Amino acid sequence: MVKSAGDGNQTREDPARAITSLELRLMNSRVREWLLRYWDFPLFDSMLKRHHLQLRNAAVLEAGCGSGYSTLMIWEHFQPRMLDAFDVVSEQIERARSRNIPARFFVADVTDTRLGSSLYEAAFVCGVLHHTEQWQVGLAEVSRVLKSGGLLLLEEPTRPFTRFERRIIGPSAANEAWHGLRSLKAEMLKVGLSVVEERPLYFGLFGSYMCVKMEGAAERQPCIAPALLLNDADELAHGQGVPA
Ligand SMILES: C[S@@+](CC[C@H](N)C(=O)[O-])C[C@H]1O[C@@H](n2cnc3c(N)ncnc32)[C@H](O)[C@@H]1O
Repeated sequence: MVKSAGDGNQTREDPARAITSLELRLMNSRVREWLLRYWDFPLFDSMLKRHHLQLRNAAVLEAGCGSGYSTLMIWEHFQPRMLDAFDVVSEQIERARSRNIPARFFVADVTDTRLGSSLYEAAFVCGVLHHTEQWQVGLAEVSRVLKSGGLLLLEEPTRPFTRFERRIIGPSAANEAWHGLRSLKAEMLKVGLSVVEERPLYFGLFGSYMCVKMEGAAERQPCIAPALLLNDADELAHGQGVPA
């Protein structure tokens, strides 16, 4: 575990160690932006549409928003009622704020957000957990801040990808701690997240997930929060699905 200097909280990550400068350059590059715009977000969009879900009435959180381009994609695709986004690296938050997206940006650690419980109808986590040594704590934290019936839209890499990443970027505690998508899915169940849909991303090097937060471990059928349901009136008001 990496501790923040001068921070009494033992679980918080050291921002300087969350991501290397090479990763930061890659993450803030035009290539990443292109992928988010033309691959990652169309996939999330299609998952929501397939289940007749929308985020217009939702309070949405993005964990690990980086330079804010993924937050911009959330805004452009879904126009949620409320959008909050955070990253552990303050320079990333400064970049994100400069985009002038109608979102509240703040510096926070996904393993200890200091947010209240059950605040959001949806949360996005795009490639953040595999950068976090205590990723299980981060996943539990995201589940905690979701309302019951809320959605988690998440993408993370497979173990073969992070092994390749290790060769390019070098070893890190977070890379060692990441065991891939099977252990991610096992952990999702432990923290009350039921996978509604799973799709391969980047030719199967990543997995993209839509999960719903269950009320309790005993709940068998995931029950979606009403604010996320796309009703006919909403659909017609936005010009989609107009009957022929
Ligand atoms: C791969 S980048 C993804 C950024 C953005 N979501 C995207 O899709 O382009 C990972 C981001 O997670 C952030 N991060 C890493 N560890 C974190 C933590 N413990 N809490 C919050 N953010 C973290 C990094 O600073 C970085 O901006």
